[in-house]
Amino acid sequence: MKLVRLRDASRPRIALTLEGAPIEALQGDTLLTALLAADAGHLRNSEFGDGPRAGFCLMAACQDCWVVVEGLGRVRACATLAEDGMEVRRG
Ligand code: FES
Repeated sequence: MKLVRLRDASRPRIALTLEGAPIEALQGDTLLTALLAADAGHLRNSEFGDGPRAGFCLMAACQDCWVVVEGLGRVRACATLAEDGMEVRRG
């Protein structure tokens, strides 16, 4: 899944990594938006065997978007703002 930005693309750019690979995001993005807009494909693999997951509710209710951020631990990507320098791993 890839999100396509339709507006607000002039916000300041920030840099983070996913699994060590550089990702560019926009200030104010959630991690979910940042990763999917950067064509990360998915956020995590389901522990129940139904494949890659990319979030579902987008409002911190379903727990389908867990990722791991260095220094923060496991967070919901849809409810966590992306910050410059974040090191993110798939949950
Ligand atoms: S997408 Fe449901 S908790 Fe993040």
